[in-house]
Amino acid sequence: MDECKLVILGFGAVGQGFARAVLMKKEFIKEKYGVGLKIVAVADSSSSAICADGLAEEELLKSKAISGKVGSYPDCGSDLTGTDLLDAVDYDILIEATPTNIQTAEPAKSLTLKAFAHGKDVVTSNKGHLALFYKELIEAKEAAGVEFKFEASVGGAMPIINLCQENLASCGISSIKGILNGTTNYILSRMTSEGTSYENTLNEAQHLGIAETDPTQDVEGIDAACKVVILANSVLGIDATYSDVEVRGISNVTLEAIELAKEEGYYVKLIGEVSKNNLKVSPRLVKQNSQFAIDGTLNLATVTTDLADEITVMGKGAGSLETASAMLSDLISIIKNK
Ligand code: HSE
Repeated sequence: MDECKLVILGFGAVGQGFARAVLMKKEFIKEKYGVGLKIVAVADSSSSAICADGLAEEELLKSKAISGKVGSYPDCGSDLTGTDLLDAVDYDILIEATPTNIQTAEPAKSLTLKAFAHGKDVVTSNKGHLALFYKELIEAKEAAGVEFKFEASVGGAMPIINLCQENLASCGISSIKGILNGTTNYILSRMTSEGTSYENTLNEAQHLGIAETDPTQDVEGIDAACKVVILANSVLGIDATYSDVEVRGISNVTLEAIELAKEEGYYVKLIGEVSKNNLKVSPRLVKQNSQFAIDGTLNLATVTTDLADEITVMGKGAGSLETASAMLSDLISIIKNK
């Protein structure tokens, strides 16, 4: 493979971050792996830009910033979106970055199955389809003989799925426990350090582009619960779905409770737990000197293994370029295997 044609579906914070990451790294990837990345189509929810000769990343970002629609890209605008677009273009890999939908898993599920039906590999940052239909998606990708990579769906830039599946391949993994949502960690940290109100801090998180399109998913623990399910399936091999997770978010955590905890030497954190008998997301007290006392958009996961004992990773769990870094690494891994 000396050229790789990409379709990006979903052009919000993550999709745009991916275009920026391609712009920053395409020369390096060409030099190191001998493969030229070419973005041949990009769609947001109502428009698209399509060009078989390749779209310029700067122009994609500019068109979206100016008009709010990627379809305003000069001379390449189109009304085609979603599965219709996938049917219409010649591509190698689908970069799926549409918003997570935990009710229906759409459009991510249909887009992913369509790409598999075309015999194409998929890299996703989406959580809804993985949390609701993990088994079905894995069976479909195996039947199609393609690759399906989803490191970006859990922990943003923090490596966890590939780390467990590849680097810890020799180990049995019995549990993963950690902070799996950047938005709530940002909100709780700011409430703790500045005494800022819950509402103001949520607004800040939305402006930073770290919150979900529907931020209820962050604050009610839904986003973290999706990640718990994804880890349960992909790392611990548990056939679980979203409804198996016990979920409590942070919307009822008051400034008073945070203050009281602080005086006693604790912080309040939204903790996700994954083990055979326990799939749970809830606000918990953590000691101020513990590994869980991390601030801002950071995520952390402690993996308990049989051979290697405990391994802990930490990194930016949300953010446009940070999440895109995991998607681009997944893309490179697919390129290397070809
Ligand atoms: N809204 C998510 C978070 C984005 O705050 O962690 C990354 O999955």
